[in-house]
Amino acid sequence: MMASLKGRNILSLKNYSQDEIYQLLAKAMELKRLQKRNEPHRILEGKTIAVIFHKPSSRTRISFETAASHLGAHPIFLRDDEVKLGEREPIKDMGRVLSGYVDAAVIRTFKQSDVEELAEYSTMPIINALTDGYHPMQSLADLMTILESKDRLAGLKLAYIGDGNNVANSLMIVAGKLGINMAVGCPKGYEPDPEVVQFATGSIRNMNHAITITNNPLEAAKDADVIYTDVWASMGQEAEREERLKIFKPYQVNSDLMEVAKPSAIFLHCLPAHRGEEVTDEVIESKQSLVFEQAENRLHTAKAALALLIR
Ligand code: CP
Ligand code: NVA
Repeated sequence: MMASLKGRNILSLKNYSQDEIYQLLAKAMELKRLQKRNEPHRILEGKTIAVIFHKPSSRTRISFETAASHLGAHPIFLRDDEVKLGEREPIKDMGRVLSGYVDAAVIRTFKQSDVEELAEYSTMPIINALTDGYHPMQSLADLMTILESKDRLAGLKLAYIGDGNNVANSLMIVAGKLGINMAVGCPKGYEPDPEVVQFATGSIRNMNHAITITNNPLEAAKDADVIYTDVWASMGQEAEREERLKIFKPYQVNSDLMEVAKPSAIFLHCLPAHRGEEVTDEVIESKQSLVFEQAENRLHTAKAALALLIR
């Protein structure tokens, strides 16, 4: 009997065990099967979910609102200028106010500490829909896509090429927990957060599995089962864009880089993608690319999180 996840938050997945992550993935696969067979799964009828976004989004907003609607719940979308988290009133007040109305809140904002504070003062689950530090819901869809393609996760090599950002941080956390060998290939000065590297490395129990950081993209990509990249300038880093384009140029995922991975390697990208920057059009449109399956899995994993977390 699996431990219940009812009432839990998803803030970074740091406090989720391997079994709990597999439980979320299994639920996502079950709900995907039901949806494909057109079988109704309105298990959250009568529930309400606040969806609060302080940064732009297509996939995360649409997948969560659709997830809520497939599950019979009602999503309420709130933009930055409506909620003004921590500005119009303290976050600790907003957490208690929201707890009186809704059954869960999905939030995308800048500071991870704001999402953590909201969770501390809320009695319903808080789901991090991306912060500057983490993107845990993206990682769940990534794992699901890899599992569907490779039938396993432990022992695979995942190469993340590019910026050591929120997406890289979240991938390292789940890689450490699930026995995925992760090699990050990034420019000097753009490595992932050392505390997250330490956390991910600390959760490794098996000596045959490792998280490695290198400034050599080809070394990271060598013999990989999965090649992953993300934009070079994340939301909030627009002013650094021109400088980053130059620094990251050698880290483009192109056919030369794909060539050093395993011939069976798949290509993943959280999207939105900037073709001609972090990835070539050729790679993202190739047979190896599963980016649209990955994007679809955002819906199934969002449904799994809502279904398992909401009381
Ligand atoms: N991958 C992802 O989170 O996309 P959005 O920014 O469009 O939500
Ligand atoms: N690292 C990107 C991910 C977008 C889904 C960003 O934070 O903008």
